[in-house]
Amino acid sequence: MSNRVIIFDTTLRDGEQALAASLTVKEKLQIALSLERLGVDVMEVGFPVSSPGDFNSVQTIANTVKNSRVCALARALEKDIDAAAQSLSVADQFRIHTFISTSTIHVESKLKRSFDQVLEMAVGAVKYARRFTDDVEFSCEDAGRTPIDNLCRMVEEAIKAGARTINIPDTVGYTIPSEFGGIIETLFNRVPNIDQAIISVHCHDDLGLSVANSITAVQQGARQVECTVNGIGERAGNCSLEEIAMILSTRKDSMGLETGINAKEIHRTSNLVSQLCNMPVQANKAIVGANAFTHSSGIHQDGMLKSQNTYEIMTPESIGLHRNNLNMTSRSGRHVIKHRMEEMGYGDKDYDMDTLYDAFLLLADKKGQVFDYDLEALAFMEAQAEEEADYKLEQLVVHSDSTEGNATATVKLEIDGKTVTEAATGNGPVDAAYNAIARASQCEVNITSYKLSAKGEGQNALGQVDIEANYNEQSFHGVGLATDVVEASVQALVHVMNLTSRADKVADCKEKRQKDRSELGGV
Ligand code: KIV
Ligand code: ZN
Repeated sequence: MSNRVIIFDTTLRDGEQALAASLTVKEKLQIALSLERLGVDVMEVGFPVSSPGDFNSVQTIANTVKNSRVCALARALEKDIDAAAQSLSVADQFRIHTFISTSTIHVESKLKRSFDQVLEMAVGAVKYARRFTDDVEFSCEDAGRTPIDNLCRMVEEAIKAGARTINIPDTVGYTIPSEFGGIIETLFNRVPNIDQAIISVHCHDDLGLSVANSITAVQQGARQVECTVNGIGERAGNCSLEEIAMILSTRKDSMGLETGINAKEIHRTSNLVSQLCNMPVQANKAIVGANAFTHSSGIHQDGMLKSQNTYEIMTPESIGLHRNNLNMTSRSGRHVIKHRMEEMGYGDKDYDMDTLYDAFLLLADKKGQVFDYDLEALAFMEAQAEEEADYKLEQLVVHSDSTEGNATATVKLEIDGKTVTEAATGNGPVDAAYNAIARASQCEVNITSYKLSAKGEGQNALGQVDIEANYNEQSFHGVGLATDVVEASVQALVHVMNLTSRADKVADCKEKRQKDRSELGGV
């Protein structure tokens, strides 16, 4: 049996489906390119039949990513498989992942069918998907709670029908490692054609056991692990990619297994996913938490000074985390900025040097000193900037009397090329600024979540504001970053307004296309 474990990333499918605000196509593509650099073997990037937006993003990613296999999800239905195949067909090589529930509770209560009927649907779906590609994966949803005889039958028939990867999900995160390992062991012992497929696992983290279950499965012969960056996903999330990759590399001595993951890309990818998905990583999270390489107690610090391996089983550098917080000022030249970005793992194509350098100089003038984390944050904001923004903030003036609890704000906005100035009051500076923007723009968004966090350390940190807002029954995520938290709040709102206005244009365009088509007689 091969000692190579296939890493199947589902950040953009299982992870994305759990977010409050969907990612834009541009954001999904940014994550997909980052996953490609990270070295994932397969990336599942959407569920194309679910919406035209999902279809479009799967197609865009399939058209761009070359070094990882792109995959899309489909229920065991022909229309789902058609949508998956059509959206993926632009790729040189792709995978269709089809699934159906196999546990008694799902078969009876959700599907309202008999197990034999479900078996027939599964076989039909795999055969149908094989018309489009040799690379078909089949999942037994809720395998963790499926009677083992049924599971063995299902796996054998799916392999006979042509599935080359069989995925065994613990959909509800219910099993414990000895049970889950036992399921995989039984499949290897009882399914006669098991050697004709790769056995994959997909574990959820409801009881905090997703990584332990996946590792036990790998020890029993599974050779694909489905996981997500930072463990994001339905409910408590999925098995965390970075934990699996680092367990397999750090404990190669014990397991003798390897992956194609370039661990030095882990920190950067984790940061990107956390920012774009508006899902902060808990400080004590293994591998990528802010404290994962921080030594607090005096005894530990003393040990570290004597020898790093006293308290570190892997180095921060091995996941691409460099704590070299060089201090830059407005006198630092472009080569210094480029060098710092390279040290942090960012290549020329990740940012535009002119825009980044201009933003750096502005920040250096305001703060005096600029650190690595500031540069990283500026580069992130630059990547988020809309190329054709309908709304731009030109000026913000705020007066606030915090003892009385009132404030006045005046905003000057450029809206579709015209300058509009409005003033308003509020119970604090952010409230006043938001009221003034609402007056100036007449754009009605309903803010459902507002989060202020520090980017950087101590008093020197930048303020980052993440807001989620509803508009026309859709949810949008906007982000702002500035030395002034009121300005960051306004930037976040302006970001959301630009996203809503793009969504309006897409909807108008779609309506117009539909109208044109019907005028042409439905061609
Ligand atoms: O958790 C699950 O069972 C899934 C399947 C679609 C693989 O996400
Ligand atoms: Zn799942």
